Amino acid sequence: MNKQILILPGDGIGSEIMAEAVKVLELAADKFGLGIELSFDDLGGAAYERYGVPLADETLERARQADAILLGAVGGPQWDTIDPALRPERGLLKIRSQLGLFGNLRPAILYPQLAEASTLKPEVVSGLDILIVRELTGGIYFGQPRERRVLENGERQAYDTLPYSESEIRRIAKIGFDMARVRSKKLCSVDKANVLASSQLWREVVEEVGQEYPDVELSHMYVDNAAMQLVRAPKQFDVIVTDNMFGDILSDQASMLTGSIGMLPSASLDLNNKGMFEPCHGSAPDIAGQGIANPLATILSVSMMLRYSFSEVKAADAIEKAVSLVLDQGLRTGDIMSEGCRKVGTAEMGDAVVAALKNL
Ligand code: IPM
Ligand code: MG
Repeated sequence: MNKQILILPGDGIGSEIMAEAVKVLELAADKFGLGIELSFDDLGGAAYERYGVPLADETLERARQADAILLGAVGGPQWDTIDPALRPERGLLKIRSQLGLFGNLRPAILYPQLAEASTLKPEVVSGLDILIVRELTGGIYFGQPRERRVLENGERQAYDTLPYSESEIRRIAKIGFDMARVRSKKLCSVDKANVLASSQLWREVVEEVGQEYPDVELSHMYVDNAAMQLVRAPKQFDVIVTDNMFGDILSDQASMLTGSIGMLPSASLDLNNKGMFEPCHGSAPDIAGQGIANPLATILSVSMMLRYSFSEVKAADAIEKAVSLVLDQGLRTGDIMSEGCRKVGTAEMGDAVVAALKNL
């Protein structure tokens, strides 16, 4: 049976990068004999304009029915001042939570060809291959109560809540350990257990889960130290497991080790490995419509989809190989440009990956 794939380009550069990812997906499906059927819908600001909400019920239903979802990016300054409950980001958070996509895999891999593009010294980042496992449907992003109010003295006040239940920690910890098991058997759990109650429970439960993985070496690190270590000596890390907000911050930070956030794909998986796949970067409204955005993170997200949701390892490997070949050819979008390379736009980069994949 054909795999149903829902495509949500979103806002800003979303439609430009998605057009390239779709080309690559269609070719990979053709080449490796996968039956796929694509459908398209809106999310975020685009959905707000079309449906009046950042995630329409019918879109959510389509996402539920799909075998996998490929997402561009959401957000933009034109929606900064609308009702916060209708902001584009709320649509993204809702689809993550409604589909139970709690396991977010964010690999930060330095392509050797890009060692010069990183702002860190090549020797610090060369060979870098980190996987951040971020909890995606709990913590401070979703905790209730959250409120903005006016105090009796007339002062405005706002607060959020950071709850984690044992089962939420356990299931994300398991993903961390499972990933560590098939990599270098080292897992670092990042928390703020010296201050936060939720982090104290996090550490306790991760330790308990660790009993079931005696072959994996578990360490714990406070998030402030982890942020420092990531730029001081990033290669000490292999798999990092952490909560929703720390994972958000550390994954952006890790992306810069690889040269550009434009290179980072992600997978968000539910309990059955059904998933949504998206680049880690945002909608980059400042460069939207100019045809200069880097489509590689979205193309690599297609590869993650084939690998994790459809177990099409050969097709996934081939896409990654094609990306690497294009970098070998010296093609670079602006964000990863360095001396001696040739600067290309979004479509030219996508076409080059397609050509490389064809010839594999
Ligand atoms: C990400 C993004 C989102 C997040 C935003 C757009 C809500 O930054 O996927 O990292 O904070 O999770
Ligand atoms: Mg983020």
